Amino acid sequence: MIVDMHSHILPGADHGSDSVESSVAMVKRALEAGVTAIHLSSHFYHHSDTVEDFLQRRQKAYDKLMAALDEDIKSKITFVLGAEVTLEVDLKDEPRLRELCIGETDNILIEMPNMKWTDWTFNALYDMSARHNVRPLIAHVDRYDEKQCKKLYEYGYNCQLNASAFRGLMSRHKAMKLLMEGNAHVIGSDVHGKEAKEYDNYEKALKCISPFKDELMEYAAELLGL
Ligand SMILES: [Fe+2]
Repeated sequence: MIVDMHSHILPGADHGSDSVESSVAMVKRALEAGVTAIHLSSHFYHHSDTVEDFLQRRQKAYDKLMAALDEDIKSKITFVLGAEVTLEVDLKDEPRLRELCIGETDNILIEMPNMKWTDWTFNALYDMSARHNVRPLIAHVDRYDEKQCKKLYEYGYNCQLNASAFRGLMSRHKAMKLLMEGNAHVIGSDVHGKEAKEYDNYEKALKCISPFKDELMEYAAELLGL
């Protein structure tokens, strides 16, 4: 199984895809890149959305996509519903948080806030996990300052890398180091838009990780609950 752990493919569920046609093009490109399982991780923002509205929107988008895909494609790719949930100070107070987990698992893809992380950030992450009994999977750790991420690694959170990290020499070196030291665990395309260029990077990433690909993908499938 080849897992894309982070994607914005669902039509109209967030800014990732503006139409069913775009979404179908993205799925076809994923298949070409060798992907066989995709976490459909539309954005969820606690401050401006409700879980109920999100789940309804996501289901509608999913049904549209499934209706538009050929049976042949559907037989080759497993889709798992989830979300990319941005960490906010009061996210722990969301009573239906567990419904945003990946598939039927306790794993939840968390996007760290786009500002300097302080004690509140780590406390918010810990409180949310403890209160709802969920396991955070931290999205695209390659994007952030290494010093800031150190605490995440120390706490042993599961961490995801974006495939774009494997494009440049320096970032590739950093990404490989994170995987080999056990601080990052899975890879995602974070695909947005019908051209789905992120899958070019995903193909590169697969080549880079080839010596330990099976091991990584086995763990990725486990996080999806497959
Ligand atoms: Fe994303």
